[in-house]
Parts: sequence; structure tokens; C-alpha cells
Amino acid sequence: MATWSNFNLQNSASPLMEQIIFFHDHTIIILIMITVLVGYLMINLLFNKFINRFLLEEQMIELIWTIIPSITLIFIALPSLRLLYLLDELNNPLITLKSIGHQWYWTYEYSDFNNVEFDSYMIHYNKSNLNNFRLLDVDNRVILPMNNQIRIMITATDVIHSWTVPSLGVKIDANPGRLNQTNLFINRPGIFFGQCSEICGANHSFMPIMIESISIKNFINWINNYS
Ligand code: CUA
Repeated sequence: MATWSNFNLQNSASPLMEQIIFFHDHTIIILIMITVLVGYLMINLLFNKFINRFLLEEQMIELIWTIIPSITLIFIALPSLRLLYLLDELNNPLITLKSIGHQWYWTYEYSDFNNVEFDSYMIHYNKSNLNNFRLLDVDNRVILPMNNQIRIMITATDVIHSWTVPSLGVKIDANPGRLNQTNLFINRPGIFFGQCSEICGANHSFMPIMIESISIKNFINWINNYS
């Protein structure tokens, strides 16, 4: 989860989020190199005394400063496309979680199991205590098994919401009348937080997502004893 003055991305808890962080760092390095180069050139332009009254065109430099940026863009575009297609890949999911956005809470359904369905509301900050995460804790957590491919189906009943969990690299809109699909793979136990990220109304800030990742043995135990 995000902690105080965390400027960077949250730590990843899934292989796809790890790839997203690698891509982010890669792109930032290229951006820094461009900024330094252009900054150096601009400062140099301001503080030199080179004057040429008859210079109107120069084909070679035009060619160079067109081709170099396009090659740079390819170095960003190819890893970006690779990531885009990796994020969409879903291989043999073990279970499916259906997540339905409402104003202003989430409903979850474990469609592989009969009658496992519950609402997930934020715990009101006046009623929370030091054991809760303020504005992030919910009354009913999403329980998911770690080290497994999980399919997420997302929809909404009223307005557009967005099911977003930064540490798992998931961000997908919940649209009324449409069923969206994404996938996640959690590679460690723990609690992971997310928030709605479509401006969906007055209590948009107060419909957090809380995922509890546990071992598959404990997950089977939980789903068997679900009443
Ligand atoms: Cu739901 Cu913002």
C-alpha cells in the first residue's frame, strides 16, 4: 500500500506490475536523457556568440534531428506494445471474481461457487480505530488465493466506476451494461489496497478495494465455510 510521502509507484505484488515498473523506469531514463540534452542545447544557444547571417537551410542536420527522435520513440513504443499485450493475456484462470461497482460500494461474486456474494463497504473513519487503515479498510474483504491466475470480471449498475489496485497492476473501468475482463496473479500473501478511479459521484473517494491474499489451502477452507 501507499505509505507516507511515497513518491514512486507502490511495490509490486504481481509479475505484471513488476513489468510496468520496469517499463516506467526505462521510459523515465529516456526522458531524463532527452531533457538533459535539450536543456544543454538551449542554454548553449543562449550563451554563445556564433552568428551566421546567410544560413537558411541545412539538409544534413535536419535529417539527423528527425531520425534520432524517431529511433528514440521506437525504443519506447516496442516495450510499451509488449506490455500492452502481456497485460491482456489470460491463461487458464483458476477462479473468477466478479466485481460490481455501485454508488458507493463494491459487490463481489465468486461465480465458480454457489451463493458466494457480498457487499464491501468502507469502514467509516469515525468508527475505525488503530487496527484499521483509515479510508481504505472495508467490512468485507476480497479473499483471493496467491500464486494463481485469477480472472476478474467488472461491471457496474449505476455510473462508471473503476476497479484499481496499483500494487497488482490492475485498473479497469466498471461500465453499466458492459462486462469487462482483466486478470491478476498475486505472488505473495498480504493485504493490497485500491480505490475507485472514475469520478463517480459524491462519495467517489469512499469506495476502497481491499484484497486479502492467502494460500490456496486457506482459500479453500474459507470458501468451504462461507455461510
Ligand atoms: Cu466509484 Cu469513483
